[in-house]
Amino acid sequence: MKAAAPHPVLLSETQIQRRIADLGEQISKDYRAQGALCVVGILKGSFIFVADLIRSIDPAISVEVDFMTVGSYGNSTKSSNDVRVFQDVRIPIEGRDIILVEDVVDTGRTLLRVRDILTARGAGSIRIATLLEKPGGREVAGNLDYVGFKIEDHFVVGYGLDYAERYRNLRDIRVLNGF
Ligand code: IMP
Ligand code: MG
Repeated sequence: MKAAAPHPVLLSETQIQRRIADLGEQISKDYRAQGALCVVGILKGSFIFVADLIRSIDPAISVEVDFMTVGSYGNSTKSSNDVRVFQDVRIPIEGRDIILVEDVVDTGRTLLRVRDILTARGAGSIRIATLLEKPGGREVAGNLDYVGFKIEDHFVVGYGLDYAERYRNLRDIRVLNGF
């Protein structure tokens, strides 16, 4: 058997799970009156976060889930300007109370682009949840409603986040060696 990835742990599985339980509580409070919300995860990085987050929301609240595949990074660790939509949501957005879910907000460009698209389709309301926020996320900080952890400007992997499609399966979040 190969040894586990040697990259240093930034956030343990326990830290992540505890924080998600808090976010779930906060979201449940905020949406209890409406009784319904629609979670739109930005793929691929958010898929594990979405899975845990929706299960931490009060089951009395009706939760719909859909995904959008958006790309801006290719296989590098540098942000690029173009944000492309590869796969769109299928549920109708008009009038829905949406929580847009990101794995990590770095420059915030991906998020702004997706938010504009959903706004143009007449979403009733849009809030943002992100597991991680990097310093660059301040560009859109006023609009980040649920933030799991603020981290330094490291390139991190695990818990859904990848480097060249690897490491998404790690249960914790690690700093990629050399970044
Ligand atoms: P932004 O558009 O610059 O905010 O970039 C956000 C997207 O870049 C995220 O959804 C991730 O897919 C990717 N990204 C940014 N930082 C990291 C990182 O540290 N590890 C893995 N992916 C990252
Ligand atoms: Mg992403």
